[in-house]
Amino acid sequence: MRFSLRQLHIFEAVARHLSYTRSAEELHLTQPAVFAQVKQLEESVGVPLLERIGKKLHLTSAGQEVLVTSRETLKAIEHLEMRLADMQGLKKGRLHIAIVTTAEYLIPRLLGEFCTRYPGIEAALTVTNREMLLARLAENADDLVILGAPPEHIEVVATPIADNPLVVVARQDHPLAGKKKISLKQVAEEPFILREPGSGTRLAVERHFADHGLNLRVRMELGSNEAIKQAIAGGLGISILSRHTLALEGKQGPLHTLDVTGFPLLRHWYVAYQTGKHLSATAEAFLDHLLGRESRR
Ligand code: PGA
Repeated sequence: MRFSLRQLHIFEAVARHLSYTRSAEELHLTQPAVFAQVKQLEESVGVPLLERIGKKLHLTSAGQEVLVTSRETLKAIEHLEMRLADMQGLKKGRLHIAIVTTAEYLIPRLLGEFCTRYPGIEAALTVTNREMLLARLAENADDLVILGAPPEHIEVVATPIADNPLVVVARQDHPLAGKKKISLKQVAEEPFILREPGSGTRLAVERHFADHGLNLRVRMELGSNEAIKQAIAGGLGISILSRHTLALEGKQGPLHTLDVTGFPLLRHWYVAYQTGKHLSATAEAFLDHLLGRESRR
């Protein structure tokens, strides 16, 4: 049997997504290239690894075996890389960070500072919502993750790194703009723009209204903070967003933070990893950087 690590890597992605197209997107390859590599792997092992039943792709039992070995092999290689990088201090190394979408207003800057300090470190940043991030955390897909509240069902070491205040945002000319001590009930009466299911911001907002026995009048759901800001500016309603999302707005911008009783809702950003995980030297150094601890390395 002759096959390459690259083929195992590609096969692992196809087996995870059960889609050539999505795997190609993830790997930045073309769909035919992904297909060809999987075909070559199948030829090397001599049995089909995937089968199409109706429209859906399935793993054959041989495919499941190859998947287990692919994952073990790729993990072992990653550990080897990590140990070799540790031996070289921080001159070289890789850092995989996953963050919730809202943290993209904070973390890339900190990562930028870190990469300037350690130019040999290659960093990859995945930005996704809370639900997808928790799935990555459970799969141990990243060195560190950054999210708005520690997970409830995965055992992690989580450390707060910064405040994450949630504020009520309306258009500058909204009738409530400039009013003092607006009640939550008044907010609940306004057309509301809500983040998508799986968003941590959405979860916090829904819990807050439920705790006060109030329902939101959801006018629309949008999958990004920037889209919500545009919708508010377009007069479609109000929303609750992390104050970080407004960092570059400026006073002359179209958005206004309303003075609502009980707001800002105080949340925090946490850096987290699964309990028992061995952190690479690179991940330890980034953790130190996030926590403002001067690295001794
Ligand atoms: P979100 O995450 O981008 O999924 O809303 C923010 C959070 O978890 O607080």
